[in-house]
Amino acid sequence: MHTINIEGGKTLRGEIVVSGAKNSVVGLIPAAVLCDEDVNIYNVPQLSDVDNLIEILEYLNVQVESKEDYIRINPTSMTNKVIHNELSKKLRASYYFMGALLGRYGHVEISFPGGCVIGARPIDLHLKGFKALGATVTEDGDNMIIEAEELVGTNIYLDFASVGATINLMLAAVKAKGKTIIENAAKEPEIVNIATFLNNMGARISGAGTNRIKIEGVDYLHSCFHEVIPDRIEAGTFVVLGAAVSDGLKVCNLIPEHIYSLTEKLREMGVPMEIGPDYVFVKKPEKYNPVDVQTLIYPGFATDLQQVLASLMTKANGTSTIDETIWENRFQNLYELAKMGARIKVEGERAYIYGPTKLVGTTVMATDLRAGAALVVAGLMAEGKTEIQNADYVLRGYEKIVEKLSNIGASIELI
Ligand code: EPU
Repeated sequence: MHTINIEGGKTLRGEIVVSGAKNSVVGLIPAAVLCDEDVNIYNVPQLSDVDNLIEILEYLNVQVESKEDYIRINPTSMTNKVIHNELSKKLRASYYFMGALLGRYGHVEISFPGGCVIGARPIDLHLKGFKALGATVTEDGDNMIIEAEELVGTNIYLDFASVGATINLMLAAVKAKGKTIIENAAKEPEIVNIATFLNNMGARISGAGTNRIKIEGVDYLHSCFHEVIPDRIEAGTFVVLGAAVSDGLKVCNLIPEHIYSLTEKLREMGVPMEIGPDYVFVKKPEKYNPVDVQTLIYPGFATDLQQVLASLMTKANGTSTIDETIWENRFQNLYELAKMGARIKVEGERAYIYGPTKLVGTTVMATDLRAGAALVVAGLMAEGKTEIQNADYVLRGYEKIVEKLSNIGASIELI
């Protein structure tokens, strides 16, 4: 386990470049096994989640070549094998092999996925969708066997606009017979990126980015080149950081529309920003207004950014609130923030952050990926030394975080 040590209180400035989106690439890599030729993906971030997916590909005898931000995946000599616990538990997104292998072979055996403990994280909607396409699901302890003689397109209504279920069902339906319609589909940009990837291979998917996705099954998917979109959560994290401790930070290579719900909140807080075509220039204001945030599905305020914003809320003149409507266990960071001097109260799905308070460095624990990122922001804001234990969580979602932050003046090291 790694630890991140930070000497806080420094003013940051300069340019910081956003990497490819974790939550997109973790769908693109499993999606690649649907291809009947090879695929080439660019702007791939170097993250432990990516390494763990490559490990699964190699276990399945898929040929993988990677260099810096490029990866070539050739699944033509692939073998369909049971994906055991040790492989699937390393990350949430291992479950995209369900849709992908089911789509390719009509048969998949896989253990339940792992991932951050931010809620119960059921996969009932994924399984319900596979069944609607004609598959049977047999659960044997921790293992699942999902199989179908033939997958046949149908109408699937998702009770909740789940990101994972939408992607998994697109993967399963791409080669199914006939037309599949996913109603109440999730609209996150990562879904559009994955649909575009499949369409680049010859799939016939329309409506990605809306709540109704149509998929006409095809028999063959050909070679393609594709680029991962910028990571909107990494981008948002850096913009919040700039708003907290910078006298001028240019966050480059982002799609401003993807973080609109965040930048609007920051404006409400009084944060000065210039929003360009692919960057946000941000600096700290004289004083911060308190704000109320409710997490929602896209394009609402992203749950993945509420923990990071909570660190900034400690600076506001008054009480800010966060209503977390997506995950039932996503306030663990606040208890760590309290150790640094924040005044907080959690009542069920609502958190109150009473500002302004001065944060003071101490030893804290990253309990999940975004909690870890929120503590990095808090550590950079705080006076003195912060030690973030369990920092491996942060490395799952932030490429070269220590290098990137050091380059803009942070005193930070990974131990
Ligand atoms: N849900 C169900 N049944 C299902 C699927 C989901 O009840 O079958 C519920 C979940 O329990 C949750 C809600 O629906 O309450 C949303 O879950 P969703 O499926 O949309 O989330 P996910 O696909 O598991 C992805 C991201 C998360 C991000 C959420 C919401 C990936 C690998 N993960 O998770 O990202 O918080 O969408 O936007 O794409 C992170 O990056 O730190 C992270 C946790």
